[in-house]
Amino acid sequence: MRAVDIIIKKRDGGTLSAEEIRFFIDAYTAGKIQDDQAAALMMSIFFRGMDYKETAALTLAMAESGEQVDLSGIKGVKVDKHSTGGIGDKTSMIVAPVTAACGVPVAKMSGRALGFTGGTIDKLESIPGLSTSIPVDKMVEIVNRTGICIAGQTSELAPADKKLYALRDVTGTIESIPLIAASIMSKKIAAGADAIVLDVKYGSGAFMKTKEEAQKLADTMCGIGEEVGRKTVAVLNTMEIPLGMCIGNSIEVKESIDVLKGGGSQDLKEHCIHLAGKMIGLGLGISFGEAEKMAQKSIDDGSALKKFAEMIAAEGGDPEVCKDPDKIFGIPAYSKTVRAEKDGHIVKADAYRIGMAAFTLGAGRAVKTDPFDPNAGVKLIVKCDEEVKTGQELCILYSSKPITEESENWAKTAYIYE
Ligand code: URA
Repeated sequence: MRAVDIIIKKRDGGTLSAEEIRFFIDAYTAGKIQDDQAAALMMSIFFRGMDYKETAALTLAMAESGEQVDLSGIKGVKVDKHSTGGIGDKTSMIVAPVTAACGVPVAKMSGRALGFTGGTIDKLESIPGLSTSIPVDKMVEIVNRTGICIAGQTSELAPADKKLYALRDVTGTIESIPLIAASIMSKKIAAGADAIVLDVKYGSGAFMKTKEEAQKLADTMCGIGEEVGRKTVAVLNTMEIPLGMCIGNSIEVKESIDVLKGGGSQDLKEHCIHLAGKMIGLGLGISFGEAEKMAQKSIDDGSALKKFAEMIAAEGGDPEVCKDPDKIFGIPAYSKTVRAEKDGHIVKADAYRIGMAAFTLGAGRAVKTDPFDPNAGVKLIVKCDEEVKTGQELCILYSSKPITEESENWAKTAYIYE
């Protein structure tokens, strides 16, 4: 087989066999096919698409390109969750402890994100002392002891995806349904959970701009999950506006703690209860409605917050953060309030623009090796559908360095008036 023939076949709209896909992925992972040919194939798939069988074959080839995590040492149905990303998405830090508090073990691996803010791993590591570099045997031990562990993805997990995702990032080939579906599901399958809950976003702050595209992505991923014997369900959620009121790293840990204490914004709470309901329902084999009631109870009785504190301690962080987050994180050195420049009705704080404000404040990174500022972020005061008066506070920007006009402009222009 020759890589160039596989590229030409897809370029001309052909259907690749499972053998051709496996050959290409194995050779690329082993360094026998170079980035130029892999980029050509990714671009051909971007324009020509892949049918369902090709997407499943690509997923399996990537899942089997490295380590397959064995979670059989953990009793019970292990349920994983994946959000397709977005602005202010802190759901894992809420949903995982809620699910674990309801008796469903959560052994979750997450990656470091490129983007407006860090990913779950970066957000958790903004807690002083906490490290998510946890080997699989230690993860199993922590889950058996506490019921919960969120660990950083090891470099041996789906290495083909790691190389391809980095390549897609710089070749304009991210926004392709088969490529996203295979990328996400390969990591979830390799990470070893029995069941998977997918939180698929659509809107200005998401890869998928429309609900229809998000539904297509969700259906593709659920189909792949079922094909490999993992129960998979998907929930769709808008990312036209940020999720919750805080966007950043430590600021999102604080907001997660607020929700686990019974506070927080309504949209975030409802979405997390919905997701946790799916995880608990799959884990315990009960109806999603019944599972949602259990999820709510774990917040009301404090058991979910206790689980989060146990996980933080098991991963080397200071569990006191759950009692007094400001004491642990400190107050960011610089802050600036953005105010309404006119009277009127604000329709929304656009997710993408708020994300850019957070990014320029230092909350995210452009390449994996970039440092980022754990205390940089945006706290929304007004988010959507609200009458405002000139001078009224809309949001507060935080950073460890002086706040630039650029960040302020992103935040100001995020507010869309009727
Ligand atoms: N997240 C992933 O893990 N992969 C993609 O391709 C897109 C989002």
